[in-house]
Amino acid sequence: MQETRARVLDRIAAGPVGGPQIAEDLGISRAAVWKHVEALRAAGFEIDSAEAGYELISIPEFGGPAVEFGLDAPYEVEYHETIDSTNARARDLAVDGRANVVVLADAQTGGRGRLDRGWSSPSGGIWLSILSRPQVPPAQAPAYTLAAAVATTRAVREAGVDASIKWPNDVLVGDRKLAGILTEMEGEADRVSWLVVGIGINANVDAADLPTDRPVTTVREEVGDVDRRELTQSLLAAFHELTVDLQQVLPAWRKLSSTLGQRVRVETPGEEIVGDAVDVRFPGSLVVETAEGTREVTAGDCEHLRPADP
Ligand code: BTN
Repeated sequence: MQETRARVLDRIAAGPVGGPQIAEDLGISRAAVWKHVEALRAAGFEIDSAEAGYELISIPEFGGPAVEFGLDAPYEVEYHETIDSTNARARDLAVDGRANVVVLADAQTGGRGRLDRGWSSPSGGIWLSILSRPQVPPAQAPAYTLAAAVATTRAVREAGVDASIKWPNDVLVGDRKLAGILTEMEGEADRVSWLVVGIGINANVDAADLPTDRPVTTVREEVGDVDRRELTQSLLAAFHELTVDLQQVLPAWRKLSSTLGQRVRVETPGEEIVGDAVDVRFPGSLVVETAEGTREVTAGDCEHLRPADP
């Protein structure tokens, strides 16, 4: 949201407050205040003009200005009712030199998943991509993916969903997938140029509207419809807070993961590894005790087989 408009909204939210007072406080004309109020109304904010001044009655259910309002993270939010893929859009913004932008959509027509799969994204979900330019080497990028899994899991747990993380970044309820994460980046040998962390949460949608060959669930199925604005804000704030200091990510991930302590089968690009998942190591590899010894797996598709023998 444009900076002055955000300040007008903040003043009204703390109101009721008269237009002349806002104009004086912000050093702008009364006509400018009025234009900002009209633009906020057009964006869905319900603003009453009573004798005591402007009063904020309600905030839109979802959308860019709604998520930016009161957001505890330094992101600008670009909202689309429908888009092909928020990751694709965020990549375009990266090429344009942008940073700290969240592309958010109600629906995607060409959502992308990991391993070149598609990602069903009907209206009612939370489909978003966070574009940032962290000052870290590319090798640390997996820590951002794990941070996104932690942030997502915390946010859906706050909404009452009993979610956990399957390594590296699937957010599950039991063995049903609730959310997925797709990270893309460009970098040089020593530094990330841009990083796009795409997060898809099956929020206020029916599981029947998510055609997939794998077990899947939605927030609606688990606990009923959720306030998508609050959930998105909570996720973005948690992601930002975790990525300010990446050392926080693994301890947080361990607490929320259902993989540690499981016998697992991990399909890596070159082989299949079977053993007990015992830990994660920075920036995000899985430590597996196999019959042949300890292995550290950096990437792959992980399947939980059963709890590991004590
Ligand atoms: C997975 O396969 O588990 C990852 C799914 C990631 C989906 C999200 S939805 C928002 C963002 N835009 C995309 O096209 N994909 C990611």
